[in-house]
Formats: sequence, C-alpha cells, structure tokens
Amino acid sequence: MNSLTKDSLMSAARVGLGGDTLRIHGGKPLTGRIEVRGAKNLVTKAMVAALLGDSPSTLKGVPEISDVHVVRGLLEAHGVVIDSPEPGVLTLDPSNVVSAHFAEINAHAGSSRIPILFCGPLLHQLGEAFIPDLGGCKIGDRPIDFHLDALRALGANVKKLDDGIHLTAPDGLTGAHIELPFPSVGATEQVLLSAVRARGTTELKNAAIEPEIMDLIAILQKMGAIISVEPNRVIVIEGVEKLRGYLHTAIFDRNEAASWAAAALATRGDITVGGAEQQELMTFLNVYRKVGGEFEVLEDGIRFWHPGCALKPVQVETDVHPGFMTDWQQPMVVALTQADGVSVVHETVYENRFGFTEALNEMGADIVVHKDGIASITRRVPRRKLEQAAVITGPTPLHGADVRVPDLRGGFSHLIAALAASGTSTISNVGIIARGYELFLDKLQQLGAEFEVVATEA
Ligand code: EPU
Repeated sequence: MNSLTKDSLMSAARVGLGGDTLRIHGGKPLTGRIEVRGAKNLVTKAMVAALLGDSPSTLKGVPEISDVHVVRGLLEAHGVVIDSPEPGVLTLDPSNVVSAHFAEINAHAGSSRIPILFCGPLLHQLGEAFIPDLGGCKIGDRPIDFHLDALRALGANVKKLDDGIHLTAPDGLTGAHIELPFPSVGATEQVLLSAVRARGTTELKNAAIEPEIMDLIAILQKMGAIISVEPNRVIVIEGVEKLRGYLHTAIFDRNEAASWAAAALATRGDITVGGAEQQELMTFLNVYRKVGGEFEVLEDGIRFWHPGCALKPVQVETDVHPGFMTDWQQPMVVALTQADGVSVVHETVYENRFGFTEALNEMGADIVVHKDGIASITRRVPRRKLEQAAVITGPTPLHGADVRVPDLRGGFSHLIAALAASGTSTISNVGIIARGYELFLDKLQQLGAEFEVVATEA
C-alpha cells in the first residue's frame, strides 16, 4: 500500500475521494475543540434557492464538503455563475440560467438526490426541467413520489424517461392544496421552492418543520417570498411574481455537532463543538444526558464529555423534528455499545438504516437488528409500515477490524467505533464521509486521533 502525504491526505478528505482507506489506531480519547459550519442539509438547498432570484445571492458559512461541490457543478451546468470570494462564502449569479443536457446533469449529480429540488426553480426560469436517476445514501428505497405528486398538483407535466424525468410547465405553476403522506424534508422543500413563485396560494399540510427548513423559509423571505408557518405542520405560501437575491449565513450543522458529541462519549473523551447551538439540539441533549453524557452550553458552542463512570442504556425512537433525528442514531449507537445494559433504538424514518451495525458487531458489539421493528415496547411514534429496531447490549469492549463505509452517517459511526476500539482498524471508502463532514481528517487530527491514510489498491 502507498502511504499518501499529509497534504494529499487532507485534500482527499476535502474533495471526497471515494476510494480512500484509513488506518486507525484506536483506544485513545478524543479531546479538544473543533468548529462546525453551515448545515449540509440547508446549504445545498440554499444554493438551489439562488436559482429563483433575478439578482445574485451570497451564502456564508458554506462548509468544504463534496455535496456542495456536486450542487455547485449542477448549478454551473445550468449557467449560474458561482464564485467564492473567501473561504466559506459563495456568490451565486442566476442571471443567465440555461437548460442543461441529461448527460451533463448526470455527470455532475453523481450519487446526490439534490437534482430533484431543481424542478421548481427550473420550471419557473425555463418552463422545463430534466432530472436524472437519483442516488444519495443507500438507506432505504428513498422514492420521490411525494415530490412528483406535489409538482403535478402545482401544474407540472411529469414524463418518465429511461434515464430520468422530464418536466414541463408551459403555463407556469399554480398554487394548490397539498397534503404530504409523511412530513418529508425533501418534499416540503420541493413545495417551498416550487410554490414560492407560483400563481396564487399554496397550502401545504403535514409539512416537515426541521430547523433547516425554517432557515430555507428565512432565505426565501429575504428574497421576497410570503410564507407563513402555521400550527399543526401547515405552511402557507402566497406566490409572488419575482424574487431577488439573498444574503444569508447558514444555520450550523446539528448532525455534525451530534456526531462529534457521540464521538466524545464513545471514546471517553471531551470535545468542544464550536458553532453548535442548544435550541436545535434539545432533543439530542436530553438523550445524551439520559445516557450519562455531560455537556455544557457555552457562548460559542457546546462542550461534550464522558462522565468517567458507566453509561446508562436508553430507548430511543427516531422521528421527524422535533423528535430524535434519524441522522443522530448511528453515532449514538456506537456510544450505546458502552452503556451498562440493554438499549433499544427504533428507526421510524427510513426502513433500512441499520446496515452499519454489522461492522460494529465485527468489532465486538452485541447488536441485534429486528427488521420489522419491535411492537411490544411503549411507542411514542405511531408505527409505520416499514421500520427497524436495533437492540444493543452493553458494555462490550470494541476491537479493531477491517470495515467498508456504507453511507455517510453509518461511515462516521464506523470511524468513531474504530477510534474507541483497542488495536488497529482499516476503514475503506472513507471518501463518502467527506460528503457531509467538513475537513474531518483535520478535525480528527486536532482531537488527537492516531491514523494514517493508505491507498485502497496498490
Ligand atoms: N419518502 C417517500 N417519498 C418521497 C420522499 C420521501 O416515501 O417522495 C420517504 C422516505 O423514503 C423516507 C421518509 O419519507 O422514508 C423521509 O424522507 P425525507 O424526504 O424526509 O428525507 P430526504 O429529504 O430525502 C433529508 C436529509 C437526510 C435526512 C432526512 C430526514 C438531505 C439532503 N437529506 O432527506 O439526510 O436523514 O431528510 O431528516 O437534506 C444525511 O444527511 O445523511 C441524510 C440522509
């Protein structure tokens, strides 16, 4: 195997090279301070929102993650002129938006699901949109039926082709009454980005109300939109004819913050996450405290640390906001392998998000996944058709193993497990982690982790 230089190692993580392999020497607490910037799940959508304006937008707090590069490529393929006057800042000028070819969109989209959100803005700007087959992390079926039904309700013609979808709206989009079958984050964003310039008023029921969606609404309001968030998951959008560019600083990445918090617990460490804020993490902080994790809310971040005594088991159900995010369970499951007793984590948002636990078991964990959930425990979240439960019995010492990163959050949990484990682990395909964790190798180094990057193939 070839050892890479430190610089190429760091730039590999910056751009997210899929094939990289890390060798991790675990068993050492992670300690120190790192910073989180704008949320992946807002920044990428905010970039798409810039397409709706008739003047340039400026977005601040943009992290160096490969999903941002993907969306940038897609926007540039559509004629948006993008510049980065300083690190973390993007200017996006949509003055000359053009149609892009399928091949070009496909080349840029890679495994991202963001292209589906281009529909509304492109229908407004060009009267048509091409959407390629969508990828994203393999964490369930991840259909787009809610998106397409909403677009049809707003007046779009949807034609499925062999390699994607062609949408047209020769007469523009018109406001509608839409009720989502589930408070889907993406479908809510779809309706916002499409209805904001439609003729008339749209009432969206059963909408997602995640903090990233509230931040997107704030951006659209800055652009000139009229959107009210009403009780019981209802969002009302009064269409306007024109929108202008925005100046906005993205909300912090609460999923990244929660991941580092779990890393502190799993490795018996002490990590201060600069930029993390309490309000958006309240549900996570409650669970963290129940497990025995310590935290202190600072003026400019949150400090998380291991209590120095045994951790306690918990029962958690993932849910839409304000519930426990599905993206928080993977890193927390690693910490729960060290709790004294039996924990149950119920995944109710995605039907296939426990694949990462196989690797944890190879590292010594005792996790049993019940593919159809567990009906007997007291449930707060109503049972969905497809769900899974993981039963984690601890504490189990973890030892090093060779594992392959399956998806973004699962991959980060493997990193944490390897850092908590005794001995050496080899983790391949780590580039996926750069999709959503900014400069994670630099941060690991700042926190005192011992690792090297090695090439996957000679
Ligand atoms: N769903 C449908 N049909 C649809 C859309 C969704 O059945 O048309 C189902 C999904 O299959 C899933 C559930 O609804 O079972 C929730 O999906 P949702 O639409 O809320 O998720 P998403 O918009 O695809 C975003 C984040 C995810 C995050 C979820 C839940 C982005 C780019 N992705 O996905 O983030 O887990 O919301 O909060 O914003 C990640 O960051 O690693 C990640 C996967």
